Amino acid sequence: MPKLFDVRDLRIAIFDPEVAVHGTRPSPVDGRGERLPIGWVEAIPGVSYGVDGGETLALIGESASGKSLMLLGAFGLLPEGTRVLGGTTTFRDVVYEPAGGSGNEGASSGRRRRRKRHTAGTIMDDSDPDWARVVATEVGFLFQDPIASWTPILEVGPQAGEVLDEYTDLTTEEINERVMDALGEVRLPKSRRMFGAFSTELSRGMGQRAMLAAALVKAPKLLIADEPLSGLDVSVSAAILDLVKDLKERQGMAMVLVTHDLAVVARIADRVAVVYGGRIVEEGPVGDVFAHPQHPYTSGLIGSVPSFTSGRLRPIPGEAVPLTAVPAGRCVFADRCPFVDDVCLTSEPALVESRGGSVACHHADELDLPGIG
Ligand SMILES: Nc1ncnc2c1ncn2[C@@H]1O[C@H](COP(=O)(O)OP(=O)(O)OP(=O)(O)O)[C@@H](O)[C@H]1O
Ligand code: SF4
Ligand SMILES: [Mg+2]
Repeated sequence: MPKLFDVRDLRIAIFDPEVAVHGTRPSPVDGRGERLPIGWVEAIPGVSYGVDGGETLALIGESASGKSLMLLGAFGLLPEGTRVLGGTTTFRDVVYEPAGGSGNEGASSGRRRRRKRHTAGTIMDDSDPDWARVVATEVGFLFQDPIASWTPILEVGPQAGEVLDEYTDLTTEEINERVMDALGEVRLPKSRRMFGAFSTELSRGMGQRAMLAAALVKAPKLLIADEPLSGLDVSVSAAILDLVKDLKERQGMAMVLVTHDLAVVARIADRVAVVYGGRIVEEGPVGDVFAHPQHPYTSGLIGSVPSFTSGRLRPIPGEAVPLTAVPAGRCVFADRCPFVDDVCLTSEPALVESRGGSVACHHADELDLPGIG
């Protein structure tokens, strides 16, 4: 059975001025097989992930490992200085090519110029009409900064209903009713005052609830969330997490969640993908991965969380490798791994199926790594 949301072989390049000046690497090839200009580095060399209906996948890993790029890149929504080189994203039966190119428009049309469109609860490339429609009506988004996600000069209620107005046949009354219901769902006042509020009048916690309401207005099949709880105080973040969990259970919504908080992952996710150096180095059911990690990096991440370790913390030595400086032809984690040997330094391990999950480590079979506990 195909997955509800499936990202295949997503390749992303980053522009690095240092590489432009001093670099010796050949520039990577883009989605149409053309060499990129000097200074571009293929930082994410082909990543695949996805979720089934109702399932939650968490992407975890240290800062700057490439989690947000993997998430936004799948929707063709990367910031300046980064670009998708290739890969496909499938949501339901709509196939989208985030690098542009042939997409759903036929090979002769060449590269599409991506048009980033940002409205409350929705961010999409609307240069591909089929993709824009399915994203606008069935995918919700939550980002770290809820206030910046709103247009400050428009009232929150009408903004939350904007995509439905554009992409469905619902009347204004029906849409407004849905917005009011969604405000109630996220435990904001179902009042005219709230409907007519401006984002600048909201606290961060209220702003994040309002973003969730804007996502829920369309009863999404998929919620994309990038660090939605960071910056919120503990009680607000716990309340929002409870809400999301409850809504997922009641509405069968799938979710891809990027977070640093492994306790949140343990509470809400079904599967977890561990990201290091622009690669997924381990993936599997959360319980299995946390109890019996197969990759030394995963074990180190778990060992760095005080509440996950009954004994002494086991922090990961060394610094994470910058995405633009990952050495080719060896394990991406080799410089920090206590188990490194010659094999690790001469070939990059592929992500292969192992014990109900997947792992990219030459020695996974021989290692017995500590997990939670
Ligand atoms: N617009 C950009 N231009 C150049 N480099 C970028 C850009 N955006 C991200 N990068 C680089 O890509 C790398 C990965 O970024 P990304 O935002 O995906 O990390 P992340 O895993 O989400 O980190 P965090 O947990 O801190 O959010 C970083 O090293 C960053 O320097
Ligand atoms: S392949 Fe080698 S260096 Fe990489 S994680 Fe496995 S043991 Fe460590
Ligand atoms: Mg990020």
